[in-house]
Amino acid sequence: MSRVGPVTDESVNEAAAILRAGGLVALPTETVYGLGADATNDRAVARIFEAKQRPEFNPLIVHVPNLEAARAHAIFDVRSQRLADRFWPGALTLVLARREGSDLSLLVSAGLDTVALRCPAHEIARRLLAAAGRPVAAPSANRSGRISPTTASHVADDLGDAVDLILDGGPCPIGVESTTVDVTGDTPLLLRPGGVTREAIESEIGSLGTPDDASVRAPGMLASHYAPRAPLRLNAQDAAPGEVLLAFGPDAPAGAVNLSASGDLVEAAANLFAMLRDLDDAEPGAIAVMPVPEHGLGVTINDRLARAAAPRA
Ligand code: TXA
Ligand code: MG
Repeated sequence: MSRVGPVTDESVNEAAAILRAGGLVALPTETVYGLGADATNDRAVARIFEAKQRPEFNPLIVHVPNLEAARAHAIFDVRSQRLADRFWPGALTLVLARREGSDLSLLVSAGLDTVALRCPAHEIARRLLAAAGRPVAAPSANRSGRISPTTASHVADDLGDAVDLILDGGPCPIGVESTTVDVTGDTPLLLRPGGVTREAIESEIGSLGTPDDASVRAPGMLASHYAPRAPLRLNAQDAAPGEVLLAFGPDAPAGAVNLSASGDLVEAAANLFAMLRDLDDAEPGAIAVMPVPEHGLGVTINDRLARAAAPRA
């Protein structure tokens, strides 16, 4: 098994040294755990794909400490600058035009002339970025197609020996991935709903478009994704024989595993992936999921549930 360590100055420095030497470090962020590598090192970035068993090279999010560092790699216009000012550090990823002369590995862009940048808010992620002194490419630290990890033990279960060190920062406070917005065209596009709501982003820069073909623009957003082993049955009111129930809200059957008994969407997002993993571990015939309201973070939760329920290849 890979080493899982508590976070101390020593372990953060060790993690930074592993990154600089081309190794892989799993790190907590406020959204989900990331599988990090030095984004300027082609071989290190290639190891991410190998560890995740990604079938093809999808582009990766590059984590930077601040807007100034981001500017070395991408071109910001008025809108992207506004979004960064308002939501960074935080759960927003911007897809931007790559700056010529950026020393980022071409692999992080997977052949596109764009790059996805995020400045994380989590204290441990920030300490690691500062100690490493390099941009860190980090997709979610799960095997490709599986549920994203929100604890260090999720990472260890999924990636085992493939990662050199896992920094254990406890459960991720937001629990779903960052919102991803492509600001390279005339109309900014919502590529992936996430931890920052669409409403919050639109209040800064106006209406977001929806890409015609999200799977092409954001290749990580394949229809079947975030999948537990068990099939999902959405819009359920209770569990049928052989099923387990993932409940939501105050009207749920007593004693059910409940994303949020009070109906709080922030709490539900934080619980989503860990509860799906726990229910899946019992190897049920199916996971029946109660409806979640389609507003605010509910949009993100329903996006992930729909992908988890999609037909598998
Ligand atoms: O919250 C998060 O965003 C987490 C944490 C670790 O930061 N990371 C994460 O990364 O979810 P990943 O690789 O699992 O998802 C990255 C998403 C994918 O859907 C990918 O296709 C898209 O961002 N993406 C990355 N670079 C892109 C680019 N240049 N153009 C379009 N989409 C891009
Ligand atoms: Mg992912």
